[in-house]
Amino acid sequence: MHVSPTAQTQIVRSTESLQTLNCNLSPIIHSEWHSFLEENQSRIHSLLEQYGSPLHLVAPQVLAANLAKIEAAIQSHGVKAQVYYAMKANKGRGLVSTAAASGFGIDVASEYEFKLACELSPLHTPLSLSGPVKPTSLFQAAIERNVNISIDSVEELRALRDHVMSHRSQNPARIYLRYRPSFKAKTRFGMSTEDVMACTRILTEFRLLIEFIGFHMHLSGYSAIERGRSVAELVGLSEVLDTHGLKTQFINIGGGMPVQYVAPDAFETFMELHQGSAVEYKGGQPSWFYPYGGRLTLEAWMREFMDYFLAPGLKIADWLRRCDITLAVEPGRSALDQVAISLFSVGLVKDRGSFSTVFLNGSSFSASETWFQSDYLCDPILLRFGPRGRAPIKTTPAYYLAGHSCLEDDIIAYRPFSGDVAIASGDALAFINTGGYHMDLLENNFHHHPTPARLNIDFSNLTFTQECAK
Ligand SMILES: Cc1ncc(COP(=O)(O)O)c(C=O)c1O
Repeated sequence: MHVSPTAQTQIVRSTESLQTLNCNLSPIIHSEWHSFLEENQSRIHSLLEQYGSPLHLVAPQVLAANLAKIEAAIQSHGVKAQVYYAMKANKGRGLVSTAAASGFGIDVASEYEFKLACELSPLHTPLSLSGPVKPTSLFQAAIERNVNISIDSVEELRALRDHVMSHRSQNPARIYLRYRPSFKAKTRFGMSTEDVMACTRILTEFRLLIEFIGFHMHLSGYSAIERGRSVAELVGLSEVLDTHGLKTQFINIGGGMPVQYVAPDAFETFMELHQGSAVEYKGGQPSWFYPYGGRLTLEAWMREFMDYFLAPGLKIADWLRRCDITLAVEPGRSALDQVAISLFSVGLVKDRGSFSTVFLNGSSFSASETWFQSDYLCDPILLRFGPRGRAPIKTTPAYYLAGHSCLEDDIIAYRPFSGDVAIASGDALAFINTGGYHMDLLENNFHHHPTPARLNIDFSNLTFTQECAK
């Protein structure tokens, strides 16, 4: 059963009464997280004591609402939608089962994701399988479950052909061809027009064993226009394949829909300062950033894509409707917007005169983008649990946030935070909106620190369920 987007709390607001560790990049925060942080501080303190730092809190029901919002954004253009949650963006099992139980599909990109998705979802849940290489055992399992398989290369289609010829199944393999647009020539993923034509010959010959269902793509970056340009290149190809009896039923544009972590104005001001070298990064200035405060909301992004002109008077939405093509999407990051927060307790604040280092209990593997030579551009919220009143606590010109490990590069954020609030060991920082890639992509148990606990939270009755890491 699908979740209605209107039935969910959609209000987001800035941190208001909560104090951030300020760098003028105040996080946009869902009202339910806001109330939770404002009204449950002693409970949060106890949870951190019980489960250790860092601690991830995850709200799967927000994921279901986001997926419904994405589906509605497509359908509002009169286009048929198939939404697959890209489970690679977060390791949470509860997220996969919630997406499936709410009627959405799951995008899997490995044998292990496939097995987990099968374990956690009802049999009828639509699955989409991507990735540049799949073992034959995965081909076979995917064919038996009627999964839509994205074929990345002519070589991979030949491997599938050889497999289906030697392992006759009841169902044909359902495949889309992953397309590489002409303006993304350097990517190793997907196929050129010539490759697609080579595949057409195989698909025509083996149509009883391999069913062509359409095209797949996933572009790096977050541009709706680039995705529009790619679809424009596919129109002619789709017509050619049609003449061979290979009908495009799906165009799957992958992920890349935007998330607004901070307000666009604040983000643009920050970027101007960044270009002017006014921000003194520890260890060099990052050369790129995720657009933390992009101007486009998800709906506006979808409108920009759907309104892209394929030909005079013909927008993408018109073409999809006219040809009865379903638009499939595989949102990861955007599906996880406002789904999780990560809490870190402060171990120690070390004063170096011109700045202080706040050592957090846990490592940046659980929190940040610094391992991608980028930076986490969202101010954390300060939760005061420390020994206030015991000793006077100084403010400092600036704070840098570091993890507790022995690595110089274990930095939670390379940028400094203003030092005009006092922080003490025992306080905690809440990082907002960490669900999409920020919290567990690189998480490990370095120094034998246990893998951080994750608790699924139900906002309706404020109960928590611990999820076992597998
Ligand atoms: C094939 C595919 N689909 C979907 C996604 C999810 O993208 P995003 O998290 O930007 O929405 C990815 C991410 O790498 C991908 O490779």
